[in-house]
Amino acid sequence: MTNSIPDDNSAGDDPADDSAATPSDAKPSTAHVFMEDTEEDIEWPAGKRLLYAMLDAGLDAPYGCTEGECGACQCVVEPHDNATTHMVHNNVLDEYDIADDMTLACQTVSDTPGGKFDVSYDF
Ligand code: FES
Repeated sequence: MTNSIPDDNSAGDDPADDSAATPSDAKPSTAHVFMEDTEEDIEWPAGKRLLYAMLDAGLDAPYGCTEGECGACQCVVEPHDNATTHMVHNNVLDEYDIADDMTLACQTVSDTPGGKFDVSYDF
């Protein structure tokens, strides 16, 4: 699959994007991303979906539809210190997947300003 960054990943243009409802001075989260043979800490801005934070950081994160419908962006997000996330839309994962910290990166937003998360594609 050839990945190219979708044209529209800016805050406020997508009605399902939480960025417009997030204060612009909200402290970003940090995601420690494990991907193939690399691991890297990236900034995860408040209100921004995880997939776009990774792509903006130059990571070759997998994705397909970017709409929560295909599962190509599926990954594990483990929070530290009671930090939480939510998915804006999910038409792929069931409650058992979610209980195992599976999420759709294209739909996942941090709920915790300054939160720290481990993100893995090794599952
Ligand atoms: S890219 Fe299709 S569900 Fe995330």
